[in-house]
Amino acid sequence: MYIEPFGVEQWMNEYETRCRYNLAETCCDSITVAELLDLAGVGRGYLDGLLSMKLTYGDIEGSGRLRTAIAALFEEQSSANVLVTHGTIGANHLVYLTLVSPDDHVVSVVPSYQQHTAIPESLGATVTRVPLREEQGWALDLDELDAAVTPGTALVTLTNPNNPTGALLEREELCAVAAMCDRVGAWLLADEVYRGIDQEGSGTTASVADLYERGISTGSMSKAFSLAGLRLGWVVGPETLLERVVVHRDYNTISIGMIDDALAALALEHAETILARNRALVRSNLTILSNWLDGEDRVGWTRPTGGTITLLRYDADLSSRDFCVGLVEGPGGVMLTPGSALDVEGHVRIGYANAPEALIAGLPLISRYMDGLG
Ligand SMILES: Cc1ncc(COP(=O)(O)O)c(C=O)c1O
Repeated sequence: MYIEPFGVEQWMNEYETRCRYNLAETCCDSITVAELLDLAGVGRGYLDGLLSMKLTYGDIEGSGRLRTAIAALFEEQSSANVLVTHGTIGANHLVYLTLVSPDDHVVSVVPSYQQHTAIPESLGATVTRVPLREEQGWALDLDELDAAVTPGTALVTLTNPNNPTGALLEREELCAVAAMCDRVGAWLLADEVYRGIDQEGSGTTASVADLYERGISTGSMSKAFSLAGLRLGWVVGPETLLERVVVHRDYNTISIGMIDDALAALALEHAETILARNRALVRSNLTILSNWLDGEDRVGWTRPTGGTITLLRYDADLSSRDFCVGLVEGPGGVMLTPGSALDVEGHVRIGYANAPEALIAGLPLISRYMDGLG
């Protein structure tokens, strides 16, 4: 089976461990096990409970404790609506394997995480791309989406908050998208891995799983919870769907590591504490980024409203890959992500949720690099 190479993941593999200032990072500044225990308000003795844990396959679909804690991130869900997976990446893959057959029609809002076009295409589906446009502030054109969703559309898919723009769809827009799906009986998959750290208000916008009977939410511990190292995510949706997803999951997952399950459950039982830390982080870091942009007229943007990343439009006569390679291999060692890896040439993606020191040191180095481009 052919599948196109995953541009962003290849770029990350190439430079992530070699750069000096990682402004390509998409996770909120990751935490250690000790920091997790501190945030959860439990002592180091908590780990003693892990010492007596017999390392079997554990609860195959995720422990009841963990699934209950995941369900609590939603308005209308119970543990029966939750299936634990190997990250959001595993969750998305399983949903496509379950719902997409050759010749199906899938509608995908782009730019997006490449899984959402490449996997359905590799499964033989026809994918209609509905573009977000910079001149519209990366906002979703609901009329354009409505026109793309036709009788026979099996699945509509989007990332919310959007990767890479950081644009957020609020409840009313999600309801409008759900109504379009309902009109033709399509499933709606929202990759909500960046949910919970929006720039305004409570920070947590509505989930499609709560808004639509065929709504599916995927997410994980990686971004808003700073725990990518657990490699733990979920599919949240109707039980009838999960029964079908499990058939595929039995072939490629069996279960998630028991230690990961236990630490994720602990973290999610203190979700609000971790999200509050990370909301404060993304909001203050965005001010740092915004202040730099105020004084840097060779770089433009649309201010993001959610998530940890956004697109920057640079004024220089070279491809986004050459721009990023020159920057990361130069004396500053600053890593961004080229727009070419996301199908948005002329832009670079910045992650602004890493430790503030990386932004404070890295942003002026981007200006210095651009000075040298002439
Ligand atoms: C939109 C989106 N979905 C899924 C993933 C994969 O994340 P996870 O670590 O949960 O597998 C990423 C990672 O960058 C992402 O940006």
